[in-house]
Amino acid sequence: MANVKPDCGCDPYLLSLVESKQEQPIGNNSGRSVGLFLASLTGGAAIALSVICYPFISPALRRVVLPYVPASTKQVENVVKALLNSPGKGKKLIDLGSGDGRIVLAAAKSGFQSHGVELNSYLVLYSKFSAWRQRTSNATFSRQDLFKVDFTKYNNVVIFGVEEMMPELESLFEKSLTSSSQVIACRFPLPNWKPSHVIGEGIDTVWVYEV
Ligand SMILES: C[S@@+](CC[C@H](N)C(=O)[O-])C[C@H]1O[C@@H](n2cnc3c(N)ncnc32)[C@H](O)[C@@H]1O
Repeated sequence: MANVKPDCGCDPYLLSLVESKQEQPIGNNSGRSVGLFLASLTGGAAIALSVICYPFISPALRRVVLPYVPASTKQVENVVKALLNSPGKGKKLIDLGSGDGRIVLAAAKSGFQSHGVELNSYLVLYSKFSAWRQRTSNATFSRQDLFKVDFTKYNNVVIFGVEEMMPELESLFEKSLTSSSQVIACRFPLPNWKPSHVIGEGIDTVWVYEV
């Protein structure tokens, strides 16, 4: 091959190197494309999975970790018993961290205007769907932080929390609940308040506090 100086004035040796790179066999290029495709597929799947899992993981990233643990059938029955035992109280209920909505729906079926607040948007959607499927119009749900709720609108406050959050909730209730309300605590009692009655036993225990 004659050593002709290229028009661009570049070094012919360097130019030949660049050209040889551009003329790589088709097999190599398609291998790289498959690699790129697989990498984007894996990356995309990882992002999609993170987006789907985030609502379930986010409660664990908070100051107080309250995971999704649905109430047992017995526990729901005990809550309903507690509600029906106190006919003097009003009929407005809120479940703080309502999960899949089972307590809200059971209370609504017993005649309570019930609302559930929940951080996990999938559980909120699921609860709304269950309310629609069960034709329960007096059960509503919203995505909201339970520490930022206006409790004054409710006479019955239900909480199935964890032990670590009960002292903070107790002082929040002291500040914001009116004398016509009651608190129903599932599985973990309030640390200092004296319950008016206790229903059930073991993990299904429910403590009822008149405010
Ligand atoms: C122990 S589960 C109770 C679920 C439901 N109340 C039941 O008894 O079946 C607690 C729920 O609170 C939700 N949660 C955690 N932190 C929250 C927060 N700061 N505000 C609202 N909901 C929260 C969790 O996603 C979980 O669904």
